[in-house]
Amino acid sequence: MATRAEAMKRARLWEAVSTDESATRRIGAALGRRLRPGDVVAVQGPLGAGKTRFIQGLAHGLGVMEPVQSPSFILIQAYPLPGGGRFYHVDLYRLEEPEEAWALGLWDLFAEPAIVALEWPERAAGLIPEPYLQVTLVPLGETIRRIQIEGVGEFPPERLAELQALPEVPDDLMEGGRIRL
Ligand SMILES: Nc1ncnc2c1ncn2[C@@H]1O[C@H](COP(=O)(O)OP(=O)(O)OP(=O)(O)O)[C@@H](O)[C@H]1O
Ligand SMILES: [Mg+2]
Repeated sequence: MATRAEAMKRARLWEAVSTDESATRRIGAALGRRLRPGDVVAVQGPLGAGKTRFIQGLAHGLGVMEPVQSPSFILIQAYPLPGGGRFYHVDLYRLEEPEEAWALGLWDLFAEPAIVALEWPERAAGLIPEPYLQVTLVPLGETIRRIQIEGVGEFPPERLAELQALPEVPDDLMEGGRIRL
């Protein structure tokens, strides 16, 4: 159970229902188009939930041209962004202790004006700098995923409003049950 203070620092931004992997990518792309240098996105969900698919869409929305692969063995992959700076895709699945994140150099990434997306952020629990965006993928069926996007920590109100504005998700996903919170 989140304490009251924790609960107050969470802002629900969007909730969507994805019915296939391409929908998950497109929802990721819609978020990617709204990101700015310095943004951190923690993507949570069980094995095979679609975290990598979501982040591939996110990278597409950011204008990353290279194909984004799962970084499971390398842990951190960097991609140049069209406007300068970098997009980092981090997979913490193999982290055994949160402290290992220091050795990994995670703090160097957060210190850059880069955009960082992390899979298995709970492996570095409490170490992700706030404010950050949290994406939670909840499998509801073989190909159905609920996708929740929240702001964790203190975002400036105008930034929250910008993030909350209706995403440019195609109409077919609206019919697929995308709900604006
Ligand atoms: N709605 C959906 N969204 C995303 N992936 C889906 C969906 N329906 C089925 N899939 C399938 O689920 C798998 C998701 O794989 P993906 O590698 O993105 O998961 P992951 O959460 O990154 O897994 P891991 O925990 O191993 O890193 C793919 O095989 C994909 O085709
Ligand atoms: Mg993955």
